[in-house]
Amino acid sequence: MDLTVCSLVPAHITEAARLSKICFPGGPGESSIESSLKNPRNRYFEAVGDGIIVGLGGYTAAADEADILDMAVHPDYRRRGIARRLCEAILADAKKHGVMTVFLEVRQSNCPAISLYKSLGFTECGIRKNYYSSPKEDALLMLLSFSEETDNG
Ligand SMILES: CC(C)(COP(=O)(O)OP(=O)(O)OC[C@H]1O[C@@H](n2cnc3c(N)ncnc32)[C@H](O)[C@@H]1OP(=O)(O)O)[C@@H](O)C(=O)NCCC(=O)NCCS
Repeated sequence: MDLTVCSLVPAHITEAARLSKICFPGGPGESSIESSLKNPRNRYFEAVGDGIIVGLGGYTAAADEADILDMAVHPDYRRRGIARRLCEAILADAKKHGVMTVFLEVRQSNCPAISLYKSLGFTECGIRKNYYSSPKEDALLMLLSFSEETDNG
């Protein structure tokens, strides 16, 4: 499958929201992604393969820090390196825009995502108690610092 990773095209927001709802029970809907994109601090990327959006992810930046948002890959397209490609695009873009440290929160039980982020150089740096609801769960806080990590563009 040919895969293209690029900035989320506004005309694809409806499809991106559909994907996020498939991947997360409380994933962002169309209006949430649309309003998020009106804030210039936020960037979303899409992965397109087989003519459809198979992956989505973004980040929000403030000064030299960023937080990864809404990383999601369609269940039928997992374990093909799509999330890795999206993360690499996000990290390269954030770095280009002056970000030095990238944070993210992930459910403590989400082994696939934790493994993905560790493989990209993120390390665990804290716990946010009861960060998630439905079901209630702590978040693992992870960070990647570009001053120590040089492989992301
Ligand atoms: C987490 C998620 C985004 C990973 O997407 P993906 O495209 O399948 O991930 P990739 O194929 O790029 O995997 C990259 C690396 O992540 C790790 N990984 C991904 N899925 C994994 C799994 N099910 N089990 C163990 N490790 C896994 C591996 O290290 C993998 O490298 P490898 O395939 O060379 O072993 C996807 O499972 C998903 O959408 N889950 C639901 C939404 C979600 O939990 N998002 C994260 C919120 S923080």
